[in-house]
Amino acid sequence: MLARWSYISTSQLDATQAEKHMEEIVQVSIPRNRSLEVTGALLFTGNRFAQYLEGAPAAIENLKASILRDRRHREVQTIASGEAPHRHFVTWSLAYAGPSHFVSDIIERALNDALEKGDEGFEALVQMMSEFSIRGRG
Ligand SMILES: Cc1cc2nc3c(=O)[nH]c(=O)nc-3n(C[C@H](O)[C@H](O)[C@H](O)COP(=O)(O)O)c2cc1C
Repeated sequence: MLARWSYISTSQLDATQAEKHMEEIVQVSIPRNRSLEVTGALLFTGNRFAQYLEGAPAAIENLKASILRDRRHREVQTIASGEAPHRHFVTWSLAYAGPSHFVSDIIERALNDALEKGDEGFEALVQMMSEFSIRGRG
C-alpha cells in the first residue's frame, strides 16, 4: 500500500532568518526522504507551510512523528492522509521552490481552500505544488 500525508502549518521561523532555516530543513529532508523512499513537496509562503508526502505507511508514520514534534512550526492541520492511489512526485524526494513570497497571496488562498473544501482543495494544492517545484529531484 502507498500512504500519503498532507498538512498545513504555521511557521515559527524568524522572518529574517527564514531562508537559512529552510535550507537546513531541505538539506536534512532530501536525503532522509530518499533513504525512506518517500517523495513529496514542500511549500513555504513566509508564514505557512504546506507539505505533501507519499510512501510506504511505516515510512510516512516515521517522518510524521519527526515533523509533528518539530518546533519550527505549529498548528499542524492534516488535509489528507491514508491510502494514496499513486505517486504524484515520482522523481522528487522533496520538491521545494524556495520561499514563495511573490505568490504568497495566491498560495494562502489555496491553503484556505484546502482547509475548507477537503478533497477538491487538496487536489488543487498538490497540483500547485507540482507547478512550483524546481528542486529536490532524485
Ligand atoms: C515544515 C517542515 C517540513 C519538514 N519536512 C521534512 C521532510 O520531508 N523530511 C524530513 O526528513 N524532515 C523534514 N523536516 C524536519 C523534521 O521535522 C526533523 O527535524 C528531521 O527529519 C530530523 O528528525 P528527528 O528530529 O526525528 O531526528 C521538516 C520540518 C519542517 C519544520
